[in-house]
Amino acid sequence: MPETRLQGQTALVTGAAQRVGREIALTLAREGVNIVIHYRSSKDEAESLERELKETGVNSWLVQADFERSLEYENLINRTVEVAGSLNMLVNNASVFPSDTLKSLSRQNLVQSLELNAWAPFSLCRQFATAVGRGKIVNLLDTRVNSYDWTHVSYILSKHVLSEFTRMMAVEYAPDITVNGVSPGLILPPPGKDRSYLKRLEHTVPLKRHGNPNDVAQAVLFLLKSDFLTGTIIAVDGGRHLMEYALGPHPD
Ligand SMILES: NC(=O)c1ccc[n+]([C@@H]2O[C@H](COP(=O)([O-])OP(=O)(O)OC[C@H]3O[C@@H](n4cnc5c(N)ncnc54)[C@H](OP(=O)(O)O)[C@@H]3O)[C@@H](O)[C@H]2O)c1
Repeated sequence: MPETRLQGQTALVTGAAQRVGREIALTLAREGVNIVIHYRSSKDEAESLERELKETGVNSWLVQADFERSLEYENLINRTVEVAGSLNMLVNNASVFPSDTLKSLSRQNLVQSLELNAWAPFSLCRQFATAVGRGKIVNLLDTRVNSYDWTHVSYILSKHVLSEFTRMMAVEYAPDITVNGVSPGLILPPPGKDRSYLKRLEHTVPLKRHGNPNDVAQAVLFLLKSDFLTGTIIAVDGGRHLMEYALGPHPD
């Protein structure tokens, strides 16, 4: 399959200051990609990553935006091009993961998850299509878009929306822009939980273990390098997308 050399290109990675986003930024930088680090509140971590990236020899810049404030994301691609001079790739990684069930779901939670996890990434893709016009986009989804999550209802609905946006944009923005998705499974415990969370759920993974941020980053890199994949969603989940329906509701 034809591959693009990414060296010298520039990527915006949202929510890049820590965890999976940080690993994606570091993985792309090792390929010679200049990185625009988007962060919301993790300023210290973002600055530390910026220093680390520069040590690898690439350029790196910071952009701050809260995706709960439309004014802060509606011009983010233009701001990114202004600071970096050019832009070739967009990785929509930033996300929130609130707990709710069908019983507890509130309108406010649903609207917040949809805005942060679906509308803001879609807005960035659309800005990218308008302002940049050519390049590659990868959206971070969740393996549970193949099934369900009984205890994160607003979250999984928002990821379903982003998943559909991904397919729609793949067609609409072809042939100049590829739009793909990566659906992680059990990778890191949610913010605030420890690794026992992963241990407790490993039995739900056919490969009987959790993955690592690097597994996700390698899938993002693969999609960004490909010139012939669009509308493709890769599950990085040890096979978990095959299991969820069979499990039924569970307490975690
Ligand atoms: N971790 C997993 O096992 C797993 C599993 C399935 C899917 N995923 C998906 O993979 C991606 C990365 O996962 P992760 O666990 O590393 O994500 P995360 O730590 O939960 O969130 C990533 C970043 O999102 C940013 N963010 C949160 N609220 C924001 C807001 N209002 N405005 C702008 N940015 C905001 C935060 O930036 P600041 O820190 O700067 O505030 C945060 O560091 C996500 O899309 C997630 O849904 C992850």
